[in-house]
Amino acid sequence: MESELSFIFCSIFFSFTLLFCLFSLMIFLLRLKFGCGCEICRAFLNSSWSKEFDNICDWYTHLLRKSTTGTIHIHVLGNTITVNPANVEHILKTRFDNYPKGKPFSVILGDLLGKGIFNVDGDSWKFQRKMASLELGSVSIRLYAFELVKVEIQTRLIPLLSSFSRNGDVLDLQDVFRRFSFDNICKFSFGIDPGCLNLSLPISKLAVAFDVASKLSAERALTVSPIVWKAKKLLNLGSEKQLKEAIKMVDQLAEGMINHRRKMGFANKNDLLSRFMGTIDDDKYLRDIVISFLLAGRDTIASGLTSFFWLLSQHSEVESAIRDELDRVMGPSQELESFESMRELHYLHAALHESMRLFPPVQFDSKFAEKDDVLPDGTFVKSGTRVTYHPYAMGRMERVWGSDSLEFIPDRWLQNGRFVQENPFKYPVFQAGLRVCLGKEMALVEMKCVAVALLRRFNIRIADPVQAPRFVPGLTATIKGGLPVIVEEN
Ligand code: HEM
Repeated sequence: MESELSFIFCSIFFSFTLLFCLFSLMIFLLRLKFGCGCEICRAFLNSSWSKEFDNICDWYTHLLRKSTTGTIHIHVLGNTITVNPANVEHILKTRFDNYPKGKPFSVILGDLLGKGIFNVDGDSWKFQRKMASLELGSVSIRLYAFELVKVEIQTRLIPLLSSFSRNGDVLDLQDVFRRFSFDNICKFSFGIDPGCLNLSLPISKLAVAFDVASKLSAERALTVSPIVWKAKKLLNLGSEKQLKEAIKMVDQLAEGMINHRRKMGFANKNDLLSRFMGTIDDDKYLRDIVISFLLAGRDTIASGLTSFFWLLSQHSEVESAIRDELDRVMGPSQELESFESMRELHYLHAALHESMRLFPPVQFDSKFAEKDDVLPDGTFVKSGTRVTYHPYAMGRMERVWGSDSLEFIPDRWLQNGRFVQENPFKYPVFQAGLRVCLGKEMALVEMKCVAVALLRRFNIRIADPVQAPRFVPGLTATIKGGLPVIVEEN
């Protein structure tokens, strides 16, 4: 009787699933056949754009350059994309309430990020934002972060590069920066040291599971219809099966760390988890909050550093100007000075901004319109439309940055030798407005520390200087094949 019942149940389940899949396939084919018929949608659907462009961001940049308003529509994706700073300000500040992250994305990232700050709107976001800004804004946590970074640089990063310089081996700098920033953000968020930059140790299970989970979650957003990944999830197939396993591993490891921290006591600890434990009892919520920080602070910094060193390899004049500034400000000392002394490095600060203008770690970001609206450039936005601002394309627009927009010129950020902040809606690399990145200052200090430490001690040459970076799709920009370099100690 029991086996008959389970047979009936399975048959019903599979019939429903089959019907569901056929239905999604039908919708997909109808879209494919009829779409809106415009040239852009056809190029998207038959991937003909890829004959001319290495990655989709370059194709969008090309379309946006041609658009008179600086706004385009990819109808088949229901996506309106803009590089117009006035539109960006409208979305991120003036009509902030009308442009939440929205359900479609919170569903895509929900399994990994849960109710963490990155993935929520409304009251839950407000609560976490307030709590996190208080913590991240405090001097004590900034000093704590600075000390962590200093230790990781002195005890791991420098010795690692020295050993490669002695052996003359090729090193993948992107991989090194990913390991480096993972160690830092884990120490900062959980108070644990995964030791990823110690190449003799096996790579941490958390790093592997976290990588798989964020990559596969990002791939969900690439399917033409969410029905495709939802059907795979329902059937526990392929990438969705892998994603489920990776998230289970992240959950188990996070749970272990939370339990450990509770047992050891959190009152006098500086890491974020301990700080949040004072206010929050719910372990699942704590897990979600801290996992968002791992995502925020790991790949972004590694991505920013990787493209920065690639650009320096193409611009020896900028590298020399940074070294001159370091000599001027720091004298012969090779030590990383105080947190405060980092503020004196105006040219380096400008060079990092300029590098992320051309290669923003988060290449684009989308919101979903709650109600019908009209953007400042006259574009009508229907409720439910995905609206994307595109820092990667914006950095390449003459109309935004002038005729030298494609060139790497740190001086554009300086006035009388001092760094001057640009309008954040023209440079939304850290987002802007009410949800502006909370880790911006910390990230810039960390990147400056790495630049100072490496440029004072090493000459870093790209193994293949001709090849321009090609990106792989993901939540943050990652260079396909990494960044192989040869290191020489000065
Ligand atoms: C170069 C490094 C970084 C870049 C380019 C960057 C960029 C961004 C961007 C574009 C967003 C908006 C994302 C979205 O809404 O989907 C964001 C949000 C955020 N970032 Fe960063 N970030 C960096 C480093 C960091 C670091 C190191 C931390 C923390 C330790 C951090 C913490 C956050 C948080 C908490 C948010 C969410 C803010 C909110 O929703 O209110 N970021 N960041």
